[in-house]
Amino acid sequence: MPTKMLLDCDTGVDDTMAILYAALHPDVELLGVGSVWGNVDVETATRNSLHTVHLAGRGEVPVARGAAGPLAGWPAGTDPVYAFHVHGDDGQGNAGTGRAVGRAVAETAAEQMVSVAKAHPGEVEIVAVGPLTNVALALGLCPELPALVRGITIMGGAANAPGNVTEVAEANIWHDPEAAAAVFNADWPLTMVGLDVTMRTTLDESHRATLAAGGTIGQYTSRILDFYFDFFAREAFGERRSCLHDALAVAVACGSLEPTLAPTVNAHVVVGEGPTRGQTVCDLRGMYMGFPAQEGAHCRVVLESDPAFGDAVVALIAGAGDAAIDLEQP
Ligand code: RIB
Ligand code: CA
Repeated sequence: MPTKMLLDCDTGVDDTMAILYAALHPDVELLGVGSVWGNVDVETATRNSLHTVHLAGRGEVPVARGAAGPLAGWPAGTDPVYAFHVHGDDGQGNAGTGRAVGRAVAETAAEQMVSVAKAHPGEVEIVAVGPLTNVALALGLCPELPALVRGITIMGGAANAPGNVTEVAEANIWHDPEAAAAVFNADWPLTMVGLDVTMRTTLDESHRATLAAGGTIGQYTSRILDFYFDFFAREAFGERRSCLHDALAVAVACGSLEPTLAPTVNAHVVVGEGPTRGQTVCDLRGMYMGFPAQEGAHCRVVLESDPAFGDAVVALIAGAGDAAIDLEQP
């Protein structure tokens, strides 16, 4: 049976690949997409999410607009912080069509999360690959949400790996630590797919070539990865390749990627000011004993998975054929 999934994204380049993977993979029943601020502002994220579901020929999947900023608001005197330098001004590597396709539903992303969970009690996996603001808002609207879903899988955090915004904080957690803390503290099975595996699962020029040789869905994906590769060449790898990040969370959630090491441990998010703000602290002290069970632990931390998994993601997207929408740039 495919996994019923609600996917929440701050739709930049890797989120776009995650939506494509979820929309195209037979092991996923995609019930809805929520957008959230993060990589880009929420209007751009919503436009990109709509564009992507239509790109995949899945225009019937409802897309709901979500939060425009962190739970606690923007710190006084600061401007919103986005990642245009990573994902381009359009969140599509400055290679998108800029075309507005379809319309968001009237519900907010948090409302959609609650209504979808109530419609399929115990069956839905929430997959959140942006800041966790929408999920925290949904917990506020419906405190019994953890009992209504199968669980939640996030792309976010870092257990052993260094952070990618600060020394210790990963972007999705760092953007809204208060929301992340609410999500980590809620009583539900949480799977954390963090930088420990997403920085080690990369795409290179051979993957872009495979995508470019596919139909127009693959060609578009290859096109938006160009700018993203430049960022990782500059800031992370010293050569043109990128992480896959968000698609890994979708794959772990639907079972198409089985982690090779993923202990269930106690984990919490550091809030408050200071150099560790946004850190995910995971209790890995049991590693020398094969991770014995911990009282009250409900966070499965993915520490190892197949680093070549990008091949499977690329094969799915490259083989998806042609988009129903016009992908010419203006
Ligand atoms: O740290 C990587 C994460 O931050 C990914 O989800 C990326 O899309 C950004 O949201
Ligand atoms: Ca993301």
